[in-house]
Amino acid sequence: MNETQVKENKIITTTPVVDKKDSTIVETKKNIVYQTNNLDLWYGDHHALKNINLDILENEVTAIIGPSGCGKSTYIKTLNRMIELVPSVKTSGEILYRGDNIFDKSYKVEHLRTRVGMVFQKPNPFPKSIYDNITYGPRIHGITDKKILDEIVEKSLKGAAIWDECKDRLNQNAYGLSGGQQQRICIARCLAIEPDVILMDEPTSALDPISTLKVEELVQEIKDKYSIIIVTHNMQQAARISDKTAFFLNGVVNEFDTTDKIFSNPADEKTEQYISGRFG
Ligand SMILES: Nc1ncnc2c1ncn2[C@@H]1O[C@H](COP(=O)(O)OP(=O)(O)OP(=O)(O)O)[C@@H](O)[C@H]1O
Ligand SMILES: [Mg+2]
Repeated sequence: MNETQVKENKIITTTPVVDKKDSTIVETKKNIVYQTNNLDLWYGDHHALKNINLDILENEVTAIIGPSGCGKSTYIKTLNRMIELVPSVKTSGEILYRGDNIFDKSYKVEHLRTRVGMVFQKPNPFPKSIYDNITYGPRIHGITDKKILDEIVEKSLKGAAIWDECKDRLNQNAYGLSGGQQQRICIARCLAIEPDVILMDEPTSALDPISTLKVEELVQEIKDKYSIIIVTHNMQQAARISDKTAFFLNGVVNEFDTTDKIFSNPADEKTEQYISGRFG
């Protein structure tokens, strides 16, 4: 049985778990957004991802941690099929997004691009005004009404906690903003297409501590509307902001559990060594 509710124009579906004895709902189980089954990936002969099995749940922040070169960026770029831009890549296994295998020949990658936004390590605003950065996606989707675009700009910039800093300079070039502000513009640009999932690859590694904190607070604030997957080298960050943590090591998921468990009582010795800074 599925219960569907409309929340700020977005349909959230949860599956209630019913107590068999008296039919009361004992807990609400979160739905799976991404299910990765037996995923392998090769760059030419290099086996970069090995038998990955991971479930990413709705309205959670999932952190991906692990030493350099262990496959974190490869994995999140596979989730939106950006990895296909690398000609030598081969994959096997499946990734189900909302139940559909994104590797199926008939699967429309455009659908994935409208539902899954991405924020990169280095802020990458377009060399355009703040306004045009935010309206870029909605315009591609055919929205031309100035009033609607204005509303999207305000809502997205507020959602990314940068409205107050740029409401009086919307027509200025986004390059004129600080790095931390540019990163929040990139998050706002993501929110403007009303995504379902936001992928973030080390989004704060180029930012100062105050901007980092703002982005972290933002992730916490928006996670009740989106599902967020964040790659980070910062253990404190993973511990502060995520619900689940996947520890990647040499292309495999070494351990995946609640963030509390990973950081307080990991099952595997290598996980323990990594989070306590003894290697990586
Ligand atoms: N375009 C590519 N062509 C060939 N090999 C690649 C390519 N991109 C990544 N690799 C290799 O795949 C492995 C995983 O790389 P990936 O970028 O996913 O690591 P990562 O965990 O994100 O590392 P980092 O923390 O340094 O960003 C590495 O051995 C890397 O050298
Ligand atoms: Mg990387």
